[in-house]
Order: sequence, then structure tokens, then C-alpha cells
Amino acid sequence: MKNAIVIGASSGIGEGFVKKLVREGYRVGMTARRVHEMKRIRDDVGEANALIREMDVTKANEARDVFKSLASELCKDGSIIDMVIISAGVGKSKSMGDWEISKWTNDVNVVGFTAIADAAVELFEKQKKGRLVGLSSIAGIKGIGDSPVYSASKGYELIYLEAAKQYFKKRKLDVSVTTILPGFVDTDLVKDNEHMFWVQPVEKAVDQAYSGIIKGRFYVVVTRRWRMLAWIVRLLPRWLWFRVC
Ligand SMILES: NC(=O)c1ccc[n+]([C@@H]2O[C@H](COP(=O)([O-])OP(=O)(O)OC[C@H]3O[C@@H](n4cnc5c(N)ncnc54)[C@H](OP(=O)(O)O)[C@@H]3O)[C@@H](O)[C@H]2O)c1
Repeated sequence: MKNAIVIGASSGIGEGFVKKLVREGYRVGMTARRVHEMKRIRDDVGEANALIREMDVTKANEARDVFKSLASELCKDGSIIDMVIISAGVGKSKSMGDWEISKWTNDVNVVGFTAIADAAVELFEKQKKGRLVGLSSIAGIKGIGDSPVYSASKGYELIYLEAAKQYFKKRKLDVSVTTILPGFVDTDLVKDNEHMFWVQPVEKAVDQAYSGIIKGRFYVVVTRRWRMLAWIVRLLPRWLWFRVC
């Protein structure tokens, strides 16, 4: 049986990945703070297919211990962890200069992300095989003034994963690394954002993301309609970016 671990599995894109992975024949280790939400999802996908562990990624050392014990539990029959998806993430629009939001965003998206990504790198290095996936954002390609720390934290995740891909490639290990860059997806994270457009359903975003992961792609923008926009944002020179945004 294939095993996967989803960090931030209690709602939104993480929940979508749990359901998709179970349909694809994985047994999934789910982590987040809201255990009752994970129980609801486990009821939906079947008890035999999902293991639940409470995890707060801002308590970085504890979170790493939870990750390691969950991986051992899933692999106790001699199997390996085939995929780790780090979907846990927070952010608020219109948060420039708000230290409380800035700190919280950094604690989850930078420190928490790194705590788990490092543990996953260590695991895959030992296994010599696996797939590491992180949820970055189109907002991580260039700085967005409405939510600077969210934007910067998503840029951090993108660069971390780029380096991880290079690291595994140099060592000739069979570990693929994928960064998912969603446009707007219909989840709790964006429900207070007043300036949304092209909002896409979770299932569609997850289906396209999964397909990119399995093809071993590094850079996967979801959904397809966001690809052209992401491409333009990436190529736009900074002087023009400051003029149009
Ligand atoms: N939705 C979008 O339009 C969009 C666009 C671009 C990128 N993304 C990225 O996609 C990822 C998933 O977000 P989403 O849209 O699915 O939002 P969501 O429904 O709010 O899901 C966020 C997940 O992160 C978990 N989380 C938050 N704080 C945590 C903590 N301290 N410790 C452990 N888990 C924590 C939440 O679980 P608990 O609260 O139960 O802990 C939840 O499962 C994020 O990284 C986000 O930046 C989303």
C-alpha cells in the first residue's frame, strides 16, 4: 500500500488532497490542530484509510516529533512514505504593518513549514525515494502590498522547495519535489478577501495539482486558467509590476 502524509489536512486544499489520495489508493496520515474536522473527513474516506494526529506546526519541535512517529506508524509493515504534502498555511489580506498577523503568518508559513519540510527531507534521504510537495502561491512570485508577510512567506516556500529539488538531484536520489501555486481556490483561507476573481473549486485544483505531482513537475500552477497570469507575473519586470499593481 502507498502511504502519504498531509500536513494541514483538516480543511480546504489539504482535505481535498486527503480525499484524492485515498481514491488513488493511498493510506493517509492526516495532521492539523482541529481533530474533530479530521474525524469528519476520516468518516468520509473510511477509517482504514486515514490516521489522525493532532499537530500545531508553530510548536515546531513537537510537530517534528508527531511527524516522525506518524511516519513510523504508517511504515510499520515495512512500507515507505511515498508522499508528504505540506498544505498548512495561514494569511490575511490587508495586513501591512500588523505585527500580530505578521508573526502568526511567519510562525506557520515559515517556521512551521521549515520544521516539517526538514523532517521530510531527512526521511526521503533515508528512504532514497519519495515525493515532497509544498503549497506555495501565485502571491509568492512577486511582492503584494496588501499582505506582504503572506506573499514573502510563500516566496520563501517556493525557494526552499527549489533548493530541495536541486539537493536531491545532485545526490541522484529518486525524490521528486513539487511546488503548487494556486490562484484563488474556494476555501476558508480566502473567505474574507473582497478582491477575488476566477475562484476555483477545491476538487479541480487538487486534481490538476495531483496530476502535476505524479508527472514529477516542479512548478504547478492551478488551475489551468491561472497559468497565463502566473507566467506574466513571473516575467514582468519590476518597474512594470510597480506600475500595474
Ligand atoms: N485558497 C487559496 O486561494 C490559496 C491560494 C494560494 C495558496 N494557498 C495555500 O494553500 C494552503 C492550504 O490553504 P487552504 O486554502 O486550504 O486554507 P484552509 O482551508 O484554511 O486550510 C489551512 C490548513 O492549515 C492548517 N493550519 C493552520 N494553522 C496551523 C497550525 N498552526 N498547525 C497546523 N496546521 C495548521 C489548518 O488546520 P487547523 O486549523 O485545524 O490547524 C488547515 O487544515 C495554504 O498553504 C495556502 O497558503 C491557498
